[in-house]
Order: sequence, then C-alpha cells, then structure tokens
Amino acid sequence: MKLDLPERVTVYEVGPRDGLQNEARQVPTADKVRFINALVGAGVRNIEITSFVSPKWIPQLADAADVARSVARPDGVRFSALVPNRRGLDAALAAGMPEIAVFLSASETHNKKNVNKTIEETLRAFEEVVPPARAAGVPVRAYVSTVFGCPYEGDVDPARVTWLTRELRAMGVYQVSLGDTIGVANPRQVQQVLERVLADVPARGDDGVDLLAVHFHDTQGTALANCLVSLTLGITTIDSSVGGLGGCPYAPGASGNLATDDLVAMLHAMGVQTGIDLDKLIDCARLAATFVGHELPSKYMKAHIGKQARARRRAERETMG
Ligand code: HMG
Ligand code: MG
Repeated sequence: MKLDLPERVTVYEVGPRDGLQNEARQVPTADKVRFINALVGAGVRNIEITSFVSPKWIPQLADAADVARSVARPDGVRFSALVPNRRGLDAALAAGMPEIAVFLSASETHNKKNVNKTIEETLRAFEEVVPPARAAGVPVRAYVSTVFGCPYEGDVDPARVTWLTRELRAMGVYQVSLGDTIGVANPRQVQQVLERVLADVPARGDDGVDLLAVHFHDTQGTALANCLVSLTLGITTIDSSVGGLGGCPYAPGASGNLATDDLVAMLHAMGVQTGIDLDKLIDCARLAATFVGHELPSKYMKAHIGKQARARRRAERETMG
C-alpha cells in the first residue's frame, strides 16, 4: 500500500486552552505565560492560548485577558482564543487577540450542555461574532464538536457535520476543525466522515489555506491512527495538546487531547516537517507537568525521559570506572 503523505503539517497547539480547561488545578497566570512562551521557543507557530468564556463555566481560564496581554508576540506566531458570544469577542478584542475561534457541537444535547443554547441559537450568536471580528481584521476559526460521537446521543450523522461546516464557511470562518470531543473515533469512521465532508468542502482553498483541520482526543488510544487516515485524505492541519495535557477532572485517568509530542515524533519519523523542535517541545511538556501536578500521558515524553535517564546512568558508570 502506498502511503501518500504531505511534506509539511501545521500543528495547532491547544494545550494552554483545551488542556488547561480540563485540569483540576488552577494554574497561575505567570505559569501559563511561561508555558506559552516556551511553546513559541520550541517552534510552535499556532497556539490557542485561552478562552473568553464565562468564568463560572470554565474557572480555569478566568484570567484570559491577563494571559492575552502578557504573552510575548513574535512575528510569525498566531495566537488564538475561544469566543462563544459577542461579550467574549469584545473582551478578546480589548485584550488584543489577533485571532479567535468559535465553537458548537454537531449534536443538540452536547451543544446545549456546553453553551446553553440550541445549535440554531448558537449559529445566530455567531452572526454577532464572526462578521464584526473579521471587520476588525481578526480571522475566525471554528470548531464542530462531537463529530464522531456524542456522549448523550451516540452516533452523529456526517451529513449534519457537513451542513454545519458549510454554514460556518459561508459565515466567513477561515477554517473548520472537526472535533472528536470524547475520543471515540476510529480510523475507518474518520475516513467515512472526512470523505463525506470533503465532497462538499475541499481540504484547501485556492489560496493554499487549510479549510479543514482535525481535532482528536486520545481517550481510546486511536488519535494517531485517526491522524494518519486524515493525512492520507489531504488534511494538513492537526490540533493537539503538548504532553497530552487535559483529560477530565471528573474521570480520573482519562486521556486528553492527542499529545503534540507524540504527533510531532510520528510526523518527523515519517519525514513530514512541522518546524517544531521536538527536544524543546518535551521541555514544554515537562514544564506543564510540574504546574498541573501530575504526570502527562504523552508516550514519546516517557520514552524520551527513559532514554535520557539510561544515557545518564551509562555516563556515570563510565566516569566511575
Ligand atoms: P449562559 O449562562 O447561558 O449565558 O452561558 P448568559 O448570557 O446567561 O450569561 C451568564 C453569565 O455569564 C453572565 O454573568 C454573563 O455576563 C456571563 P452574571 O450576570 O451571571 O454574572 N458571560 C460571560 N462572561 C465572560 N465571558 C463571556 C460571557 N458570556 C456570558 N463570553 C456561555 C453561555 C456560552 C457564556 C457559557 O455557556 C459558557 O461560557 N460556556 C463555555 C463552554 C466552554 O468553554 N466549553 C469548553 C470549550 S468547547 C471544547 O472544549 C471543544 C473543543 O475543544 C473541540 C472538541 O474537542 O470537539 C473546542
Ligand atoms: Mg477539544
């Protein structure tokens, strides 16, 4: 079988947002800023740094404006933040966010539980967010969640995902990220859903911008396999979270997003470029582990730390004897 892979993939880092929003521990603003700056230092160029949502719903990210104002902003780095409504947009603009992302679910029950609105109401709320953001020169990304399964409704119709993707594109979002929110997708399903969406929305626009991205959570360990299928279908933007930061405070041991380090390690090993320095990325994952106060699930990180420890022991033995 010939594996048709792209030369380069854009890694869209969501650890500071999707990762930290699920951590039980409240991470101090200064640590978040240090973490984001370290990710930039590792060569990560697209980072979702926080959310301008209700602090009652997501207290972990209540310091969104402080984070946005405190991070260094070198050229060539794109920072984004989640925004659910006009209020969030105003706060994001006031904090100088250069890009935002809106989000909704493909399943009605999950959408209601996540943003307290029906899907139709959410789309209407986006009318108050997307055009004004674009008028202010701020590009808008969008997420469709529960694409591959809903925790309340089970199966999700791919035709619905396609419809929402088209609606969001028509509204003016530059990219739609298809989310496996609870990590239940399998590679064959990913192929079927993506083929359905790609029949209506191409992976890339005429200007070379990726119109579609994928966002896998690794709950069942299928995220990398799902990425591989996505790559063979022409998707070249992938969301991930350094170290696999995240999980769920209400489900001990549950995995979070696909780990950026596992993704980048696999891509580099296959000759696919990302522009990210893997050693420095591991340092970012280690940093994050210290301030969330527990080990992170990334497999590459564990293997890397094990290799370093073995090399250290070997060097110590050689010095001694
Ligand atoms: P609501 O309670 O229906 O809204 O929440 P409301 O308009 O009645 O407002 C309630 C209170 O929130 C009011 O304050 C508002 O001022 C305030 P109070 O008067 O009670 O003091 N409020 C806000 N405060 C700050 N920023 C705002 C804002 N808006 C209202 N923007 C709302 C509706 C959407 C606000 C709420 O449901 C919410 O914040 N939800 C956030 C949900 C969320 O962040 N979920 C996680 C992200 S999605 C995700 O993780 C999936 C993804 O990763 C992809 C995937 O994995 O599939 C993206
Ligand atoms: Mg997510």
